[in-house]
Amino acid sequence: MRLLVTGGAGFIGANFVQQTVAERPETRVTVLDALTYAGNKASLDPVADRIEFVHGDIADLDLVDELVSGVDAVVHFAAESHNDNSLTEPWPFVQTNIVGTYSLLQAVRRHDVRYHHVSTDEVYGDLTPDAPAFTETTPYNPSSPYSATKASSDLLVRAWARSFGVRATLSNCSNNYGPYQHVEKFIPRQITNLIDGVRPRLYGAGHQIRDWIHVDDHNRAVWDILDRGRVGQTYLIGANGELDNKTVVRMLLEAFDRDPDDFDHVTDRPGHDQRYAIDATLLRTELGWTPRYADFRAGLAATIQWYRDNESWWRPEKAATERAYAAAGEQTL
Ligand code: NAD
Ligand code: DAU
Repeated sequence: MRLLVTGGAGFIGANFVQQTVAERPETRVTVLDALTYAGNKASLDPVADRIEFVHGDIADLDLVDELVSGVDAVVHFAAESHNDNSLTEPWPFVQTNIVGTYSLLQAVRRHDVRYHHVSTDEVYGDLTPDAPAFTETTPYNPSSPYSATKASSDLLVRAWARSFGVRATLSNCSNNYGPYQHVEKFIPRQITNLIDGVRPRLYGAGHQIRDWIHVDDHNRAVWDILDRGRVGQTYLIGANGELDNKTVVRMLLEAFDRDPDDFDHVTDRPGHDQRYAIDATLLRTELGWTPRYADFRAGLAATIQWYRDNESWWRPEKAATERAYAAAGEQTL
């Protein structure tokens, strides 16, 4: 199979490409990535001689058309992915997440290429603590510019599938953790703070709940959907990993042999979603997917070790990321 992977230099995309090269050596992978601040070509170093890398923008219609014409399937990871950035400057989210997806859809439509769209549980908005988890039929209700643009892109995919017969599947996954995640995100930010002897930073009271899944489990689900998913269908991906942010910070502090209360409360995120939770029954029963990383604490320990072993990968981004948080007004409460 010839596969075009957009956003393959980002967190989930790079892990997907590495997993694909290791486990499906017959697959020919081309990565299309604009190498924004979030893309890092070094994340593909372990497989650099086994893939083709194209530096370009998914919104470049001509480039995308040419690349799509030469493959059997597209897996679309590329996005502006960070909620906090979308609150500071929403425009790149509209351009990449909506216009970029339009560009890919027009190309797969023209060349009748199979398309898998990687999306987020945030399109459903948030849940109260006792509400049932999201399912494939939960109404869309996004809260942030990021989640609104991802919701928009999902709706474009559904329309292109229904109106033009594009052979598309969609997946909406919960919060991923694992190696190669940018230091702006919650878990890597706190791990790298702790490596530097800096106190973790918890937004507000830290009662918000996220449903954590290891990135490799997410990517195995994407392959299951590509292989056996029903065209036109949405699959939710999640591993029953609900934890509140304060608990995660305390687990990280314990892993560093620090006092579990040795963290700072900082300015909360405007419009902060309270809780996400995934019901992955369809994925489990129809496609037989099960997560391999059942123990979050063990997965976290492996992730901490990865950041300890790969300081040269994250160090160049760390100071600028913290400066950006400070410039956006983050303050200790
Ligand atoms: P990321 O920010 O780490 O990586 C995004 C990648 O896309 C980067 O390599 C970047 O250079 C590239 N990119 C950005 N704009 C581009 C453009 N215009 N053209 C080409 N490439 C461009 O993101 P991630 O966390 O790996 O997320 C990947 C996908 O998975 C996104 O679609 C995101 O919405 C979705 N998702 C993420 C999570 C999560 O927890 N991180 C959970 C569910 C879904
Ligand atoms: O649910 C899937 C989504 O998960 C993806 O679609 C997004 O691309 C991904 O970034 C992630 O979104 P979140 O906003 O949930 O992730 P983030 O890592 O930014 O924050 C996780 C939680 O931790 C959230 O409740 C905010 C909080 N937080 C975050 C940071 C950076 C803190 O308490 N302190 C922090 O320093």
